[in-house]
Amino acid sequence: MKIVPLNRRGIPVSRLVLGCMGLGGGWNQNPITSEHVKQASEAIESALSIGINMFDHADIYAFGKAEKVFGEVLKEQPNLREKMFIQSKCGIRFKESSGVPGRYDFSEEHIRRSIDGILERLGVDYIDFLLLHRPDPLMDPEEVAETIHDLKASGKVRWFGVSNMSAGQIRLLQAYCDEPFVINQLEMSLAKIGWLETGVHVNQNAATENIFPEGTLEYCRLENIQIQAWGSLAQGVFSGKLVDDQSDSIKATAKLVQEMAEQKQTTPEAIVLSWLMKHPAGIQPVIGTVNPDRIRACEDAVNITLTRNEWYTLYVSSRGRALP
Ligand SMILES: NC(=O)c1ccc[n+]([C@@H]2O[C@H](COP(=O)([O-])OP(=O)(O)OC[C@H]3O[C@@H](n4cnc5c(N)ncnc54)[C@H](OP(=O)(O)O)[C@@H]3O)[C@@H](O)[C@H]2O)c1
Repeated sequence: MKIVPLNRRGIPVSRLVLGCMGLGGGWNQNPITSEHVKQASEAIESALSIGINMFDHADIYAFGKAEKVFGEVLKEQPNLREKMFIQSKCGIRFKESSGVPGRYDFSEEHIRRSIDGILERLGVDYIDFLLLHRPDPLMDPEEVAETIHDLKASGKVRWFGVSNMSAGQIRLLQAYCDEPFVINQLEMSLAKIGWLETGVHVNQNAATENIFPEGTLEYCRLENIQIQAWGSLAQGVFSGKLVDDQSDSIKATAKLVQEMAEQKQTTPEAIVLSWLMKHPAGIQPVIGTVNPDRIRACEDAVNITLTRNEWYTLYVSSRGRALP
């Protein structure tokens, strides 16, 4: 798999990232078992075998169990650590009691506690990337800046990034932080196309229907902030998942993806991901599957280059309305 210096910053990460949200036995309080560790081990092995060297976590995934099983695999095979870039996120907190609701928290205290928990669960001394998971309306940019500065100095985190943030929110934080934010992870896929709709609707009434923050892609590109796409496989709706209950545009697009895959002798997953990667922003898809075969089915995405016509055919089909 191609190694791409992370948006001209020289960090040699793979073009695809393995999303680890599905590891650890799910969103419940059941303890992790040897089966969960085996599942994680097989997913990691499958990813590494196709050249994926970057792994995406968050402190909350499966209530910490995703990191925990990943850490168990690293404990069994410590030589794996040096072969990977590990990314995690913090800043989302679940409801604790009636007076302590679900919330976002970029306070120094929470970020520090969170990173210590991440390192402990993974059983590592440092992670490569820490992303601020979702904007906290109460964030104090100076406090965030100091916290990030200290985490960098302590060696616990090598680089920083954000997730689900608009250009304005990143710009505000960056104005206070001496460390650059090098990643913004956003929901983007052939099903979730707001990131394109915002652009093509400029100066049209339909623009008001879009929630994707205008100018964010452009800002990230200008500032060398790597855009990562979560939900990049669109939950499998174009690559084999039953779509009987889905919209006509999803059904039609799934059929087109299948036809293109047959024509190019590749997998539907490769078509879905190469469609994202065709965009000149150099999007890095985060694939959320933990199924080893499905991980391998993504490999060919880096070898496929869709034509302009193929790319627009899929886009127009997914939006369900003609352009212009
Ligand atoms: N920053 C954020 O706010 C945020 C939010 C959500 C997720 N993420 C990250 O992004 C990663 C990817 O996101 P995602 O998991 O939501 O989306 P995704 O990659 O689009 O979808 C993966 C899910 O779809 C299933 N799937 C894929 N192809 C399938 C098929 N043909 N048939 C049936 N099921 C199929 C997978 O199941 P199998 O495992 O069985 O293949 C998995 O549950 C996550 O792992 C996480 O690391 C970030």
